[in-house]
Amino acid sequence: MYIVKTARLGLRRMRGSDLDDFHEIWSNQNAIKWTSYDVSRTLEDSRFWLDSLSPRPENPEPHNYGVFLRLPAGEEGPSDVGNHRMIGIVGAFRSTGAEAGYIFNESFWGHGYASEALEAFLDIHWQQRVTQDSTLPQTVSARVDPDNPASVRVLRKCGFKDVERLSRGLGKGDLLLLRVENPGVE
Ligand SMILES: CC(C)(COP(=O)(O)OP(=O)(O)OC[C@H]1O[C@@H](n2cnc3c(N)ncnc32)[C@H](O)[C@@H]1OP(=O)(O)O)[C@@H](O)C(=O)NCCC(=O)NCCS
Repeated sequence: MYIVKTARLGLRRMRGSDLDDFHEIWSNQNAIKWTSYDVSRTLEDSRFWLDSLSPRPENPEPHNYGVFLRLPAGEEGPSDVGNHRMIGIVGAFRSTGAEAGYIFNESFWGHGYASEALEAFLDIHWQQRVTQDSTLPQTVSARVDPDNPASVRVLRKCGFKDVERLSRGLGKGDLLLLRVENPGVE
């Protein structure tokens, strides 16, 4: 079942049956080049990566979510199982738990899905994670390549503000650090 639904999307934790959609996303060089991860060359690569992001005994509630395109109202069945296509992934991939990341299937770029999903992720983060874990910061950060205007735009649409430029060392361009504050904090 979805943890949260938006107008067009559903977010839930990923599972083994999402492998084909997951592989389509992570095997696309055009998408991966903007991340700090390697492209998945084989289905086995993707299976290993998917397993590490899925609920496991040592991490039963990972804070990353498959983003599913829901069917139009009236056409949805009682369960999401097998019905809907996973078009992206959004979440906190790093151990700090407060750095956002996302990646979408290239066939679905340009429809506002990433912004819609990131907004939903932030709602889960503030309302479910931060209220339950007082050690988490009241901000979420994101690091983005300034040459990736679509991603910079997604972050700004979701309320992130520029903080600073981070040097990546010789021969590599800077990264832009952005941050958004918990809207529930006065
Ligand atoms: C970045 C990414 C998630 C965006 O997904 P998406 O669903 O197309 O995003 P949205 O449609 O919600 O928003 C994209 C915005 O960028 C804008 N945009 C797209 N390409 C752009 C460009 N070349 N220059 C300026 N703006 C651009 C769009 O117009 C849109 O803004 P708008 O709603 O004001 O018109 C997707 O391209 C992706 O998966 N990229 C590869 C992985 C990645 O970059 N991850 C983030 C790493 S920090």
